[in-house]
Amino acid sequence: MKKGISTRCVHAGEEPEPTTGAMGTPIFQNTTYLYPNPDLPKADDARVGDYYIYTRYNNPTVEALERKVADLEGAGSAVAFASGMAAISTTLLTIAGKGGHIVSARDLYGGTYSLMRDILPSLGIEVTFVDTRDAHSFGRALRDDTRMVYCESITNPVLKVADIPELAGIAHAASVPLVVDATFSTPVNQNPLSLGADVVVHSGTKYLGGHSDVVSGVVATNDELAHDIRERMIFLGGCIDPSAAWLLIRGLKTLELRVARQNVTARWLAEYLEGQPKVRSSLHPEMESHPDNELAQRVLRGGGGMVTFELEDLEACHRCLDAFEVITVAPSLGGIESIVSLPVDTSHWELDDEELASLDISRGHVRLSVGIEDIEDLREDLLRGLDAV
Ligand SMILES: Cc1ncc(COP(=O)(O)O)c(C=O)c1O
Repeated sequence: MKKGISTRCVHAGEEPEPTTGAMGTPIFQNTTYLYPNPDLPKADDARVGDYYIYTRYNNPTVEALERKVADLEGAGSAVAFASGMAAISTTLLTIAGKGGHIVSARDLYGGTYSLMRDILPSLGIEVTFVDTRDAHSFGRALRDDTRMVYCESITNPVLKVADIPELAGIAHAASVPLVVDATFSTPVNQNPLSLGADVVVHSGTKYLGGHSDVVSGVVATNDELAHDIRERMIFLGGCIDPSAAWLLIRGLKTLELRVARQNVTARWLAEYLEGQPKVRSSLHPEMESHPDNELAQRVLRGGGGMVTFELEDLEACHRCLDAFEVITVAPSLGGIESIVSLPVDTSHWELDDEELASLDISRGHVRLSVGIEDIEDLREDLLRGLDAV
């Protein structure tokens, strides 16, 4: 029988090191390897993983990470990258191909949006943006040259939940894959592949690493597509460093513990904030008042560690953030420390009022990535912030 998620976080993909019996995966911090036999092998052969030749192609530490993530996602294979953006860009370039068209949710991490809006079109790849909440708009945007449908499982910052089974049906009816960025949901709360998606990508920098100390990315999919993505990775060059891979393996061992705690704390704090007079609205997918709550119950096992709440205006947000003592004002998310940021000052700073409104984002939105601190300390800190408003 398949082992539980906590067991797999700890053990999957790893064996004691065969030479010494060392427990845990060592960091193979080397770039090159002895040729295995006197007949000089072709570098291309090393890509299949029969032996090692050069770390951009493959590396034992990186392979252990890839096996662990593939297991956690229920995928045939995984490919690790130097960043989430390297994982996303390599995946999109592999699947979209020359002149291909992508249908993507508009509700995207800012870096992915810039890639799709500015860089892919310069390479002849067109993207049509649609609303995560309107599955039919994905279907309407499909064209004969569409190569993929793309979305994020839970979006930033207003935590829209993607209907992966529905979007997978739409993509498959057009014989194209559904690619899901599941950074916000993590393999603890959702396995997009088991819901019908074909490819799952993560910024490992967030929950997978979990300690705000390693930039990384991972793609998990079937063996054939993973092989093609790895081929592109080798030549586009976004391979992960072995030390970074080891940090990710280390972080993944506690993924379930961290995310289970973050699910509970985030929901509790979101509900607490909803009852505060200075808070206009508070969002967490597990709250009944969340617009996608019914869908969230079907496609997520937990609502995740992100909470977004709304104050009167940007000035109120600045006063609130300035008063925090435990919660750190910084970009990024998914770490053990609680981090707060304002979408209009960070991820969405380029957008005018009309664009913000089209994404349901207001100038009063505060995005909180809940860490693993004591719930009471976080509650007090939020109250300290609200008192200063
Ligand atoms: C949802 C999502 N996807 C991808 C990325 C990009 O990841 P990275 O910073 O590891 O390149 C981010 C970064 O914030 C993100 O939030």
